[in-house]
Amino acid sequence: MQTKTTIPEAFRITKEIHQKTYLVNGELKEWKGKNTTVISTISSTKEYAHTVLGSIPDMGETEAMEALDAAVNAYNQGQGVWPTMKVKDRIECMEAFVKKMEAKREEVVKLLMWEIGKSMPDSYKEFDRTVEYIYDTIEDYKQLDRNSAKFQKHDGVYAHIRRGPLGVVLCLGPYNYPLNETFALLIPAIIMGNTTVFKPAKHGVLLITPLMEAFQSSFPKGVVNILFGRGRAVAAPIMKTGKVDVLALIGNSKSANALQDQHPKSNRLRLVLGLEAKNPAIILPDADLDLTVNECLAGTLSFNGQRCTALKVVYVHEDIKEEFLKRFSEKVDALKFGNPWDEGVKLTPLPEPGKPAYIKELLDDAKVKGAKVQNKKGGKPSDNFIWPAVLYPVSKDMRVYEEEQFGPIIPVVSFKDIEEPLNDMAESNYGQQVSLFGKDVYTLSPLIDTLANLVCRVNLNSSCQRGPDVYPFTGRKDSAQSTLSVHDALRSFSVRTFVAFKDNELNNETIEQLLEAKVSNFLSTDYIL
Ligand code: G3H
Repeated sequence: MQTKTTIPEAFRITKEIHQKTYLVNGELKEWKGKNTTVISTISSTKEYAHTVLGSIPDMGETEAMEALDAAVNAYNQGQGVWPTMKVKDRIECMEAFVKKMEAKREEVVKLLMWEIGKSMPDSYKEFDRTVEYIYDTIEDYKQLDRNSAKFQKHDGVYAHIRRGPLGVVLCLGPYNYPLNETFALLIPAIIMGNTTVFKPAKHGVLLITPLMEAFQSSFPKGVVNILFGRGRAVAAPIMKTGKVDVLALIGNSKSANALQDQHPKSNRLRLVLGLEAKNPAIILPDADLDLTVNECLAGTLSFNGQRCTALKVVYVHEDIKEEFLKRFSEKVDALKFGNPWDEGVKLTPLPEPGKPAYIKELLDDAKVKGAKVQNKKGGKPSDNFIWPAVLYPVSKDMRVYEEEQFGPIIPVVSFKDIEEPLNDMAESNYGQQVSLFGKDVYTLSPLIDTLANLVCRVNLNSSCQRGPDVYPFTGRKDSAQSTLSVHDALRSFSVRTFVAFKDNELNNETIEQLLEAKVSNFLSTDYIL
């Protein structure tokens, strides 16, 4: 199944990238220790062989402490340059950063394709969406600041209320959106005045290389510190110190719990977590089948199903089960597999070398327990891929029903009574989103009312997704903690803090003088344009 297409010149790997520096205390320090080889599961040769892309530092506790100290010192218990800086000046630093980042679009996109196998259009989209996210964050922060540039008075007490930073943020992003989701944490954390330690995910690490200099030159020293290595080796010792104020992680609940448990005073720790999910599609008997099949196709298989928002179980009403399975299976088999830059490609190599074998395990387990592969190509293995299998009937004792597959395999369950999927969702450990397909408003209405309390986004006749990034992204139970969106993330990474004073002559005069003198960065009614 390996494609034999020639790699377009612009995307060829002509030189390996060896990341030899890390960013700590404003300095790109040379790394002299051990390195880990970075490979791509995409082959560049006729006979299948993985491609070596370069290497990254394999750091440990010493460097982790160095980065943490830099962030702690830069925050300086809220007295540092960055947390006390004027909002306008912090925005200027962020604007400088995003300009430098934009110049690296081609380099980053090429690495996104090679490192995680994301298709070319989706890789460009990830980059552009991230840039847009940064500009939108800047605009939203300006508005937040404008709304705070005033006083209110209640019961004879005046208040000037703003949002202030929380302290040191440890940022850990996922491999499926190594740029977008990581930056969706990092950017709001930084702009709100926190200082940060950031470690890229297990895949999609080299794509940070072109951005190192932009981080280094855009912010005061110690505001952004970038480490490389395994989470266990660098993140765990950082958490143990108790000096982290916010754990910002997009990944799985197991790592989130393990890291949280390391913190000696967890009451001080704010959690901003985007975790696993098992979003269901529920297809009612009156659903528009053409639309439903297309939305389920995108929902289950965009980026090979490696999205936390992917549809990971499909519930279809008995009355339309056969027709749905037939049409859906045909469409799955008609998708094009190839390398990320191949024209019209929808399925691409899986970046985790062990993933095809894991998906096969799920498939074999389900088959033994009575499920049948509905599509002709389903489960067909190749060097770096396994063809998506549409599995039916799936029951609760199967691993694919329980586990978040995060890959190309689609469990389908049929139902007679709508209470069946609703009860399953209520029992599930997850609560991110659902896709509901149907037309009759009298059937849909009570369902929407229930589903909105089981998950945090009900997608009507539409696949699940995070975007547009201005909408709240969160979940219940094991799926999330805190809310992310351009608007909400600024709140997640800050706390309301204010200056209050009783309405009397002395205070009123003092405040007037304070405002006139324009020397407080916090107490200010200046309007940012
Ligand atoms: O991995 C989870 C992502 O938040 C999904 O985002 O719905 O835009 O693909 P997306």
